[in-house]
Order: sequence, then structure tokens, then C-alpha cells
Amino acid sequence: MSLAQGPSAAPADAAPRSDLPTYRALDDLEKSKFALGRQVFKRQWRDDHPAGMGQEAGIATHYNAGSCDDCHNDGARGRGPTGSGALPVALVMQLGSSSRISDPVGLGDPVYGRVLNTLASPGIPPEAKIEVHYVRVEGRYPDGIAWSLRRPRYVVSALAYGPLAGSTILRPRLAPAVYGTGLLEAARTLAVARPTDVQALFQWGMSENQQDGNRLRGRFGWQGKAVSLDEQTANAFSREMGLTTTDLPAVDCTPSQADCFAQGPTFKPAVADPLWDALLSFERLLGVPRAPEGIRADSAGRRLFERSGCARCHAPTLRLQTSAGVPSGFPREIHPYSDLQSHDMGTELDDRDVKGRIAHGLWRTAPLWGLGDAMRFGPEASFLHDARARNVEEAVLWHGGEARAARDRFCALSASQRSTLLRWLETL
Ligand code: HEC
Ligand code: HEC
Repeated sequence: MSLAQGPSAAPADAAPRSDLPTYRALDDLEKSKFALGRQVFKRQWRDDHPAGMGQEAGIATHYNAGSCDDCHNDGARGRGPTGSGALPVALVMQLGSSSRISDPVGLGDPVYGRVLNTLASPGIPPEAKIEVHYVRVEGRYPDGIAWSLRRPRYVVSALAYGPLAGSTILRPRLAPAVYGTGLLEAARTLAVARPTDVQALFQWGMSENQQDGNRLRGRFGWQGKAVSLDEQTANAFSREMGLTTTDLPAVDCTPSQADCFAQGPTFKPAVADPLWDALLSFERLLGVPRAPEGIRADSAGRRLFERSGCARCHAPTLRLQTSAGVPSGFPREIHPYSDLQSHDMGTELDDRDVKGRIAHGLWRTAPLWGLGDAMRFGPEASFLHDARARNVEEAVLWHGGEARAARDRFCALSASQRSTLLRWLETL
């Protein structure tokens, strides 16, 4: 089955953490905001009004999860499917209205909106049931060692308001890690952020903080569609949790959904401003956890990473220094292993519409920091935007498009070199 020379899974330790790291020391005010923000992140919002939900303005009948934490375990990535069956909560089915990249916001499906909600208030059917079915894809490395991947196919049923539009794009997305995003945001705000990695420099120079055609609008989400943590968070409340905020006083209901839409717009947000502020502070300060003990950084792995051309996109270092120096509280440089640009990854990873037609898209280079931490989810550890990869090796094997050459160089390594590289990735 799976893969010779697979990475060494760290012991599964997915228990909630008592302490979460920040990337710098906090003063007392920041400490209390961080603690409150963490509570907001963990709060089960839907439990607050079990019966009345949907009867109150500002709260939608349909949702996917009651808390941020349901999808982003303590700020980490979500847990993926261990096999075919109903989608786990952290694998969200977004709906797209257009394959045009220049329509980054997208209007969603005309009836169901931007996210297919799999939960609803008592007495109301959810929008749909969604299952994933995996088909095995097999192949061999040039040295003859076999590999096997799983290709997803999605089955949407029990649609409460009739069929999806034929041109609606199914956009399965695993919840990525929240930690480190404050630093990624700073790398955008500080206009001179640039990778020190020589190979990445050229590329960065071409598109540093410019709208390089369609290539980059924002920085967050698997396709870099959200420009700020505020936008990403307001969207999550609105679309995945059915809650309004001052930033986004509307939920993801369309006029066809009478039971949801009857509540109308509201000027009193479901999420009060002080809680919103604390949540954003929590997100902005949350640091990247260290890889589990016992896995040692190995420079041979890093050399193989660079030699294979991985660092061309997964730029090891971004600098956060402006001409005026390093802003207070920020480290001088960060190591996200991402150029924060978007890339064509080949048709295998593209989304498809309801009729199965390919909707070509570009993907933000996934930051690789925290990969070791992700291994603690054991069989639920999942990689790539749709959680199809069960380990980092499978993630690399799915690379195509602009990353095809790097993938081929990885495959051409000897089995022990591949294993050295994969183990090193788990130290990040
Ligand atoms: C039902 C699951 C779910 C819930 C609940 C949820 N998220 Fe997410 N989150 C996702 C998915 C899926 C993405 C990726 C979106 C994309 O690629 O378009 C995401 C992306 C993010 C990102 C961007 C990370 C990055 O690297 O770009 C942040 C930050 C985030 N969520 C924060 C939150 C916060 C804060 C909450 C609570 C208000 C929340 N999320 C609730 C599923 C969820
Ligand atoms: C052309 C740019 C590019 C190159 C070169 C590249 N990658 Fe990636 N990588 C990406 C993008 C974009 C994604 C996210 C794709 C997706 O989710 O569909 C990604 C995802 C990953 C992931 C999964 C991360 C996660 O959070 O799930 C791993 C692991 C990874 N790459 C490792 C590598 C290695 C190792 C190499 C070299 C053999 C490499 N990549 C070369 C762009 C690149």
C-alpha cells in the first residue's frame, strides 16, 4: 500500500494543549487579550442559543461548525478523512461561481451561496450531505519502488433546496493552520519583505507586493484569496459558522433560502466587537509550534530540498525588515518555507465543477512550517488543499504544473535520499 520509505510518524498526540506559543513576549494587556481570544476561538457559539438559533437576526440557520477550534485544533490544521465517507468537519465544501481567477471573491452557487453547510438549527434540514470517495492511483519511482495515492471524488446528496447549478465549482478545502498567519500578514504589510533564499529572490523580485496579473490578490487561504486576517475571519464567521460581525454583517444565505434569509440583515452583530478584537489578537500573536521532540533537523535533508528545486517556491526565509528597521515585536526574519505567491500545480489538483469540468486555478505555496506538528494527528494528518495526501510524500507526488520538474527530481533521488528529505520536512 502506502509508500516505501514513508515518513516516520511521530507518536499521535492530538490532545488539546494547555499552553499555546507566541512568537514574542507579551505585555500584560496582550496576555489577557491573547487568553480571551483563545476562549473566543474555542467557544461553542451555537450552544449559546440551541433552540432560538435562526430565530434571531444576525444568526443563520445553516452552518458547518460551532467554533473555530472545531476545524483548527488549537490553531493547527484540521483533521482529514481517513477513508471514503462523510467529509470531516474541517474539510469544507466551498462553492465557486466562476473558474475565472480574476473573480477572486466569487459569488458561489445562486441557491446555496459560497459554502455548502452540513449542519442546521434544530428542525431545519442542512443544505446537503457530502461524501468523498477515493480511487487508488498507483505508480513507481524510477528505482522501481511502488507508490499509491488516493484521488478524491465528491458525492453531494440530500440537497435541501434543489440541485446545484451545473456550472458551480466544488472547492473542497481543508482548514489550514492559523498559527504563524500574523507573521505572514506582516510579511505583506512590510513592503520590503523578501526571501533571502537566492533561488527565490528572482521570483520575488518579479512580483513583490504587486498585483502580478492574476497571480496574487491576498495571502490567506489555499489560493491566497483573502487579503487580511480580518477578511478571512469575518468570512469564517459568516459562511462556516453562520454569525454576523461588524466587518461582515451578512450571513451566507441567498434569497432562495426562505427560512434562512427571513432573518434579514442586522445592525447588531452576533459577535460583539471586543470578542472580535481579542480573537484577532490571538490569531496575530499565535506562534508556530516546534516539531515533536525526537526528530532532529538534518542539513542533508535541506540540501536535497534545495537541490530538488523545492525552495524555488517554498522559500525558506522571508525578511520582515523595512528601511526603518525591524518593527517592534517582530522577528527580523521568518521561516515559513513559502514565497507567498500562487502557482499552477497541474490539472490533477484543479477544482472541478458539478459536471466534472476542470476549473483551472492557482495555489498559494503552502507554508511548510509546522509540518512536524501536523504529524501528531496520526491517521487524520492530511496535506494539500483537499486533504487528499495522507503524508508529506504523497503531497510531493501530487505536485504538477510549475512544480512538475521539482517532483521529478524528488522521484529520481535514491530511496534513502527521499527518506532523508521527507524526514527533514517533518522537522520544520
Ligand atoms: C468548518 C471549518 C472551519 C471553521 C469553523 C473555521 N475555519 Fe478557518 N479555515 C477553514 C478552511 C477550509 C480554510 C481555508 C479557506 C480557503 O482556502 O479558502 C480556513 C482558513 C483560515 C485561515 C487562513 C490560514 C492561512 O494559512 O491562510 C485563518 C486565519 C482562519 N481560517 C481562521 C479561522 C477563525 C478565526 C475561525 C473562527 C472564527 C475559523 N477559521 C473557523 C475552515 C474553518
Ligand atoms: C512551483 C512551486 C512549488 C514547488 C517547486 C514545490 N512546491 Fe510544494 N507546494 C506548492 C503549492 C502551491 C502547494 C499547495 C498545493 C495544494 O494544496 O494543492 C504545495 C504543497 C506542498 C506540501 C503540502 C503542504 C501542506 O500544508 O499540506 C508539501 C509537503 C510540499 N509542497 C513539499 C514540496 C517539496 C518537498 C518540493 C520539492 C520536491 C516542493 N514542494 C516543490 C508549490 C510548490
